[in-house]
Amino acid sequence: MRAIPYMHPTAYNFYLRVLHRSSLRERYKIISGEIGCNNIVFELGCGTGILAEYLDKSCDYIGWDLNQAFIRYLKKKGRKVELRDIFDFSGYPRNHVCVITDVLHHVVPKEWPLVRNALKSTEKLIVVEPYKAFNFPLPNFLRKYYDSVLGDNDGINPYRNRVNWDYSPEGLKKYFMSFGAHKVTEVGKDVIAIFYSGKDNVSEIDNQ
Ligand SMILES: C[S@@+](CC[C@H](N)C(=O)[O-])C[C@H]1O[C@@H](n2cnc3c(N)ncnc32)[C@H](O)[C@@H]1O
Repeated sequence: MRAIPYMHPTAYNFYLRVLHRSSLRERYKIISGEIGCNNIVFELGCGTGILAEYLDKSCDYIGWDLNQAFIRYLKKKGRKVELRDIFDFSGYPRNHVCVITDVLHHVVPKEWPLVRNALKSTEKLIVVEPYKAFNFPLPNFLRKYYDSVLGDNDGINPYRNRVNWDYSPEGLKKYFMSFGAHKVTEVGKDVIAIFYSGKDNVSEIDNQ
């Protein structure tokens, strides 16, 4: 079983809009601005492929996800997507910009192998993690119930792994910086971290 948003693409898109409201557009506009033009974009854990709709038409989009309903929906739309485990590192296509949005807190504790291997396939890596949308107080039993029915229960990763994820913006920023992010920005309800492959770890925190 999986939570309702992961059962159908329409449910997922609706859930995301309710959770993020107007900051959802801002999120994908900022990511696509960071991506720019004429680039091969590889999204790990692409979900319903919202990012692809915001990309400049000159970009080539490739997405991987293990959710069959999402991949079927994206294939019908003509997107270049594959039903594939994002931990299948050896199959990563060479790309200019890799994007991992809303995925690290799903795959914890394997998030850093994912980031490191994504960096090997790309020049620029954009990692986005939500904080405000999930950062509300709930007693533990309710949090687990919420997770399984409406939350992050993607049918792939167990609740016990993500239960202790730190959703605070400060925690997330420090976390990304400690792993060599070049730039960390708080935007809307997200923290966005930019990594470059082969660059020195010169880091800056942007508090806009
Ligand atoms: C919160 S959604 C994010 C979707 C998308 N990136 C977005 O911006 O809306 C997390 C996605 O990661 C996918 N996922 C989780 N673990 C995965 C794995 N091991 N391999 C492939 N996809 C995975 C889930 O199926 C889900 O679609």
